[in-house]
Amino acid sequence: MLDREIIPLHIAVIMDGNGRWAKKRGLPRVMGHRAGMKSVREVIKSCRELGIRYLTLYAFSSENWKRPKEEVETLMRFLNEYIDKELPSFIKNGIKLNFIGRMDGLPDFVRPRLKKATEETKDCGGMTLNVALNYSGRSEIIDAAKKFASQVKAGKRDIEDLDEGSFGGFLYTAGQPDPDLLIRTSGEMRISNFLLWQISYAELYVTPKLWPDFRKSDLISAVAEYQKRERRFGA
Ligand code: FPP
Repeated sequence: MLDREIIPLHIAVIMDGNGRWAKKRGLPRVMGHRAGMKSVREVIKSCRELGIRYLTLYAFSSENWKRPKEEVETLMRFLNEYIDKELPSFIKNGIKLNFIGRMDGLPDFVRPRLKKATEETKDCGGMTLNVALNYSGRSEIIDAAKKFASQVKAGKRDIEDLDEGSFGGFLYTAGQPDPDLLIRTSGEMRISNFLLWQISYAELYVTPKLWPDFRKSDLISAVAEYQKRERRFGA
């Protein structure tokens, strides 16, 4: 049973293991991504039901461009397809979409969809869904530093204005609380360049389950584990 009083405000997820899921079944890797979309849907819906206010999904890292061209292209097509199919339900359920990463590096056939989805959900107040695309935690920090530096150069800011609190305002997740819980599927004990600044005090939960097998019950187990941890924030 979950304690309704200590529901994490923000959950971040590294969705890993689609390829292995497909391989185990003798299927092409992209079938693993196809199956992973079902888990994405279930996790979004379950987070909304649990009252999670922010959910961040790592959908495509800047390093993922190194994968075979066909796999990358199929992932991008799946993304378009997913948005087309789910946008009405995001609006209906009050889910605001926010894409994080270097958007200008994404293909032309994807960017307009993302813009449309962001625009059409901008007033949704139930939950914010951050989808990390062409994302790198280090690049995000560099982009934030550049943004701040350009404001200093323009005379709008003073160097002394920068501290741990204000720096977050230059990140892609500006205005959002940091993740309380970071979930990673398929057993790897790595951060993989995800939300490097924001996860400083996040609780980590790694499950051996492959992403396409991840269900609502697994999300609940992760939150239950989070509720058992005593968070001290270094104190
Ligand atoms: C990791 O599995 C998964 C990805 C790199 C992509 C995640 C994409 C989806 C779940 C589907 C589309 C997403 C949205 C938001 C519509 P992997 O390929 O690294 O698996 P492996 O480590 O077993 O090879």
